[in-house]
Amino acid sequence: MKKILYAAAECDPFIKTGGLGSVVGSLPKELRRKGYDVRIVIPAYQCMDEQWKSQMTSSLPFPVYMGWGSQPAVVRTLVYEGIPCYFVSNDFYFSGNAPYREMWQDIEKFSFFCKAVLEMLAYLDFEPDVIHCHDWQTGLIPVFLKTFYGENPYYRNIKTVMTLHNMRFQGTTDINVMKGITGLPYDLFTYDKLESYGSANMLKGGIVYADKITTVSSTYAQEIQEPALGKGLDGALRYRSQDLSGIVNGIDYAVYDPSGDAYISYHYDSSDFREGKKKNKAALQKEAGLPEDGDVFAACIISRLTDQKGLDILEPVLHELLQQNVQLFVLGGGEKRFEEMFTRYKERYPDKIYASSDYNDRMAKLMYAGCDATIMPSRFEPCGLSQLMALRYGTVPIVRLTGGLKDTVMVYDAASQTGTGFGFEEYSSAALRTTMKHVLDVFRNHPDEWNAIAERGMKEDYSWSTSSEQYADLYETLLG
Ligand code: GLC
Repeated sequence: MKKILYAAAECDPFIKTGGLGSVVGSLPKELRRKGYDVRIVIPAYQCMDEQWKSQMTSSLPFPVYMGWGSQPAVVRTLVYEGIPCYFVSNDFYFSGNAPYREMWQDIEKFSFFCKAVLEMLAYLDFEPDVIHCHDWQTGLIPVFLKTFYGENPYYRNIKTVMTLHNMRFQGTTDINVMKGITGLPYDLFTYDKLESYGSANMLKGGIVYADKITTVSSTYAQEIQEPALGKGLDGALRYRSQDLSGIVNGIDYAVYDPSGDAYISYHYDSSDFREGKKKNKAALQKEAGLPEDGDVFAACIISRLTDQKGLDILEPVLHELLQQNVQLFVLGGGEKRFEEMFTRYKERYPDKIYASSDYNDRMAKLMYAGCDATIMPSRFEPCGLSQLMALRYGTVPIVRLTGGLKDTVMVYDAASQTGTGFGFEEYSSAALRTTMKHVLDVFRNHPDEWNAIAERGMKEDYSWSTSSEQYADLYETLLG
């Protein structure tokens, strides 16, 4: 049985701030079903729920040597749904009430994490064939492996995959600082290795040293090889284009399932969703304290509120949109300016907006089940998971055609009666406004066509079954 170790900063249900956590929490399950011995390692954040911490067993402490000396690590273990999960514990680094802090602190703690992941293998009875790294926090794993561990027989055959979930975050710092923290030699900090625009860059390290690189949709795999979305690493990615591929994300169809979802009151599938969604709409309105109205156009935005998500082009359209018989349900927190924007609108249109910055799975599912549409005007979107959940619940996605949104939402075409959602290319309020007019016209004046769009969406398959096959193929190619 091939052994794959997933290394990441987040994994649902232990800790999750966004899509990264969802992917790391769901893809391994599917690979297990395919016969891989997949295990997961993340930091042992003190802010994890007690229900998890209390189940973990602990290893003896072992030293992790960094540039300036050593720090102790302990590996905590628990088996979750058949998957052994390891948690690297160090109270100095992983305390506090959130997984991330200031960048300068995170650089050091994730450098430590990368080294500890490699060190722990010698203390566990587990020699992975592949370490599958996710995002910048794990970028130094391939670097350490190829430099410090080089020909060490215990490590020599381990292959690495680096998956890019978001090029926006790279983990950059002053070269001397990074050298001091990691003890990596000077000759690694050149433009063809860890240096980027005068700084040390952890993600670049992963891109240069990993055996294979993937990202979470085909379109994003192309986009990041261009300056606009490559965020300074497009050159490094073009250089490795032979080893770079896009594998679209899936979602856990057992967890996101309108015919069995424990959180929603009325179950439905693609045969009876018209009735089912009506009842769930009423339940959602009740829960959110908005007027119960079966005819209203109910749209949701379930997202981290960051400038990636296109909320700046949404703002000028909101006022106009809310003049009509529309309700908007917003769930998710993030930048203050966006949280405040929705609070302002909520004060002005108390009967039309529900907004909560406290993300929780239950409310998210009530929204997917009860809304007619979801809006994702993203500036860029490596994959996006919200549109996949929406499709599954018969909620029509309205998206900007970028990254994974372009790959997973088929634009509605009235002439051929095809498509699963609505989309626009240009990143502008004008383009979004035109699209929303079209959306409302179809919703109000062509309800049969609207329902056909929703039904086609429900019949799409964005479970992990296809994409996990592609990851399996990648591992097989690597292991030969
Ligand atoms: C990041 C990206 C998102 C992607 C997720 C999981 O959150 O912004 O588009 O779906 O990672 O890969």
